[in-house]
Amino acid sequence: MCLMFIDTAFWSLCRIFVMPSRMCLSSVHNTKGMLDSSNAASGQRWGSSSTAMESLYDIDLISKTVPVILDNPRSWYGIVSRSTKLGEGDVAHVHGISRDELKDDPLYSDALLINRTASPLAWFMECKDRTKRSSVMLPYTFLPTMPARKLRDAANEMKEILGDYDAIHVRRGDLLKNRKDRFGVERSLHPHLDRDTRPEFIKKRIAGWIPEGRTLFIASNERTPGFFSALSDRYKLAYSSNFSSILKPIIENNYQLFMVERLIMQGARTFVKTMKEFDNDLALCDDPKKNTKVWEEPVYT
Ligand SMILES: *[C@@H]1O[C@H](CO)[C@@H](O)[C@H](O)[C@H]1NC(C)=O
Ligand SMILES: *[C@@H]1O[C@H](CO)[C@@H](O)[C@H](O)[C@H]1NC(C)=O
Repeated sequence: MCLMFIDTAFWSLCRIFVMPSRMCLSSVHNTKGMLDSSNAASGQRWGSSSTAMESLYDIDLISKTVPVILDNPRSWYGIVSRSTKLGEGDVAHVHGISRDELKDDPLYSDALLINRTASPLAWFMECKDRTKRSSVMLPYTFLPTMPARKLRDAANEMKEILGDYDAIHVRRGDLLKNRKDRFGVERSLHPHLDRDTRPEFIKKRIAGWIPEGRTLFIASNERTPGFFSALSDRYKLAYSSNFSSILKPIIENNYQLFMVERLIMQGARTFVKTMKEFDNDLALCDDPKKNTKVWEEPVYT
């Protein structure tokens, strides 16, 4: 997400984040068939390549913690007219300039400042707490708990039906991309991933974490029908496709579906990720998640 925030000397106590009003969807989030295994291979696509931020996230709910507005004419009008009433001067866009550098420059002293510097840290690292007027560092878990109401309601309904359950997130499709080196040898950024995300390996890996007989929710972008069936001799398997009567009426793209699945995963008693992100994570595969450079030969044994 590209984000900017508004901040003046005067306004610094009420810093506001501006979120884009629409979010682009990568085409990998845009193929239908996740909910309906019968047309998994049809390659049908959802209509649009961008979607309204409000159809994904609950802006009012986020704003209870950090004030957020959307980057659209209506919100901007509100902000600019408020600042005009306060007798402030021009609107100034800055990029890559620090507050210290601006402090003594009269050009900016009265301006409504729009800081368009994209932070190398995530945007939520620099939020202002609404109540305490101090900086807060929101945890990575913050945004995933803020989906639009209809998505949260759907997830709650599904969790109710699942009862006491565990979950695994099995990322395959997008991450399995191999390429051939100049000798024609297949190379992968995650050489053990294809192997470790196959049901027989998953079964061995999670046996010590998830006892036999448990309900296991599987969130995956694997499209082969029945791919995980081999796990059903140990677990009661459940997928989003088991809940299509809840999801079909409200889901418009795979990103929304992923957001619902993310809530389900968060609610699991035991949750196993595809790859480790934090020290305490349980993961299916020990390959480093962030590898972007070293292409290795895939390992299957
Ligand atoms: C603008 O944002 C960047 C990145 O967050 C920050 O380093 C810089 O100090 C900010 N500049 C102003 C004038 O607030
Ligand atoms: C979910 O659907 C699969 C078939 O796609 C079925 O085998 C499984 O029993 C269903 N799970 C639940 C919890 O209904």
